[in-house]
Amino acid sequence: MRQYRFGWLAALVTAGLAMGWAAEDKARRAQPPAIREFMREKLNHSQAVLEGITLEDYDLILVNARKLLAMSQEGMWQAVEGTEYAEHSANFRRNAAALAKAANLASLDSATLAYVRMTMSCVECHKYVRGRKSAALNTPLPSQADSVAPLVAVNADVGELSKSIER
Ligand code: HEC
Repeated sequence: MRQYRFGWLAALVTAGLAMGWAAEDKARRAQPPAIREFMREKLNHSQAVLEGITLEDYDLILVNARKLLAMSQEGMWQAVEGTEYAEHSANFRRNAAALAKAANLASLDSATLAYVRMTMSCVECHKYVRGRKSAALNTPLPSQADSVAPLVAVNADVGELSKSIER
């Protein structure tokens, strides 16, 4: 039952990310290769975290959560200026830190919850970055309802998961 629930969550999160990135396709071609490479690294590490969660390998979760935390302090991460981007970064760091802590405590439920929250902070920041780009190019944003639907579904599930952990 528990495994089934996590599998479903992982599928939802993946679907949400895929939808978000499809829309990013055009803008990302303008990115210098070094920054693009750096940004893609985040995906490798978050996939490794998911692997750690599914295999209950806390070292794998910890190593990759720490790597993501360290990356968020690097110069290349600061690709966008402004307080809003800094807030998204801080939010991401909080969730990645919670993930590392959960791995340290060998708590699978807390790690899963922190992973979903961290993933949502990836998506939130990307939405912000894309929004800025669209505004700069003066093109209309994609339908809010479309881009938000998978997140709403994930949110509902996170609520359920939180309740079951707190029980
Ligand atoms: C604080 C903001 C922020 C957070 C949080 C964030 N990203 Fe990004 N991400 C960016 C920016 C900025 C770009 C570059 C977008 C552009 O200008 O093309 C980017 C681009 C990417 C790309 C596209 C790279 C390419 O091929 O062009 C991937 C993949 C990515 N991020 C993965 C992730 C993952 C996975 C997470 C969470 C674990 C994450 N990001 C969290 C800001 C963020």
